[in-house]
Amino acid sequence: MTDLYEGLDFELMAECTLLAEAASPEDAITPLRKALAGTQVLLVQTRIAHWNVTGSDFTQLHELFKGQYEELQDSLDEIAERLRACGGVVAPTLGGLIADSPVADLRSTQADDTGEPSSAKDYVGWLLVGHQALSELWRLLGADCDAGTADLAGRRQAAHDKAAWMLRSTLGEQSKPSDTPTEQPAGADDNGSENEVV
Ligand SMILES: [Fe+2]
Repeated sequence: MTDLYEGLDFELMAECTLLAEAASPEDAITPLRKALAGTQVLLVQTRIAHWNVTGSDFTQLHELFKGQYEELQDSLDEIAERLRACGGVVAPTLGGLIADSPVADLRSTQADDTGEPSSAKDYVGWLLVGHQALSELWRLLGADCDAGTADLAGRRQAAHDKAAWMLRSTLGEQSKPSDTPTEQPAGADDNGSENEVV
C-alpha cells in the first residue's frame, strides 16, 4: 500500500500552518485602512506643495511633486481593492478618512509660526515626513501579513522609500540605507496621535 504521506515534512507543514493562522487577510484590514487614508492625505498635501512651492528651485520641485502625486494617485485603487478583498470597507466620509490617516494634516516640524509650510524647504520636509510614516506602516504590515497583502506592502514601501530619497536629496541630505525611520516621525506624541504608523 502506498504511503500517501511519504516524503512530507510534517514539521515544516506545522510551521506553515502556524504562519497561516498568524496572518489572515482580516488582520490586514486596520493597517490597510490607515495606509489608504494616509496615501490620500499625502496625495492632497503633495498637490498643495506642487501648487504653492516658490523659489529658485520652483521648476524642479513643481515637476518632482507632480510625479509623486501621480504615483500616489495610481496606487489608491489597488490599496482600496485589497482592503475590500480582505473584508474591510473604505472610510465613507472625509472626516473618517482623516481620522484613519497616519499622516499628520497640514503640519510640519519645519514650518513657520503658523504651523503651515511656506518655503520650498518646508514643503519638502512636510512631504518627507509623510512618506517616511507610510513607508514604516507598510514595512510593519508586510512583516506580518497574508501573502496577497505582503506583495502590495513591499511595492508600496519601495515607492515611499524612493520618494523619500528624492525629497531628501533635494535638501542635500545623504541617503540612508533604508528611508524607513526606526523611531516615530517627528510630531508623534506618546499616543501616536500624529504620524502614528500603526
Ligand atoms: Fe500642475
